[in-house]
Amino acid sequence: MATRRDELRRQWTELAPAWIKEARVGRNPTRNGLLDPPMLEACGDVEGLSVLDCGCGEGRFCRLLVERGARYALGLDLCESMIEAARELQSVRDEYRVADVQDLAFIESETFDLAVSYLNQCDLPEFETNNREVFRVLRKAGRFVVANLHPMRSAAGGWYRDAKGVKQHVILDNYFDEGERSWEMMGVRFTNFHRTLSTYIRSFIEVGFLLEGIVEPTVGPEQLAEYRELDDELRVPNFIIYKLRKLEYRTVDDIDESVVLEFLSQALARLHYFKDNWKAIQARSN
Ligand SMILES: C[S@@+](CC[C@H](N)C(=O)[O-])C[C@H]1O[C@@H](n2cnc3c(N)ncnc32)[C@H](O)[C@@H]1O
Repeated sequence: MATRRDELRRQWTELAPAWIKEARVGRNPTRNGLLDPPMLEACGDVEGLSVLDCGCGEGRFCRLLVERGARYALGLDLCESMIEAARELQSVRDEYRVADVQDLAFIESETFDLAVSYLNQCDLPEFETNNREVFRVLRKAGRFVVANLHPMRSAAGGWYRDAKGVKQHVILDNYFDEGERSWEMMGVRFTNFHRTLSTYIRSFIEVGFLLEGIVEPTVGPEQLAEYRELDDELRVPNFIIYKLRKLEYRTVDDIDESVVLEFLSQALARLHYFKDNWKAIQARSN
């Protein structure tokens, strides 16, 4: 009997040929014009890092991170044809594997410096398990960068248009009704999962992540000049990026006393230095 996961995989497998073709030969304003710049900025300097990409599709973002100096990138995707396509362009520094990102049991704890999820959590029936698993496989102080559909746009509704078809405003409805939504993309019906902003943020925090920032990507004149179809992005936020960090200490028991003592003794030494040299320091700053 087909499981829920089989059905979700089937939908992505049906979509994959058009998706891969667009990624390889097409023009994707949402990725190239809107989301890539803030995603790359959120990832920061990736030189020498090992990176996990959850829901990597045909591997585009892994390749971008490797080009920017990542030491190693592992891309995971539920859909075999996406992984086959990713392997066609793989280098010695990126690898791809068919896997469900809600279960990373095959990865040892504290393996990666950086994890990314580029429009994947909206596809997951249990995104919390992805958060828990990513938290586990990240090294201490590792980062998780999550791009997702904006909860205001995954709730319900499209553009409300006037009689001439001109866009008036976006409809927001059924926001608190979390669960499945059915959409059509590239001629294929597929399923996404809507959750409120507070559900996402609560889960990140409960798992132990520090929320370091949120970005609601929009466009500037340069992007608009190249991608005129992105003008809606000036009106409503369609996407959101969460910048998360794995906290080194979650409970008081995680704290190593010797680290605290070292910190305190250094602080004390600094205090003594200032006390002993206060007059000279003041004279220098005047
Ligand atoms: C919107 S696409 C994004 C692909 C890629 N991150 C990109 O930006 O081009 C979502 C991807 O997530 C994959 N996916 C969906 N559910 C998944 C799961 N449970 N585990 C791993 N991948 C999954 C799909 O097969 C699809 O390739």
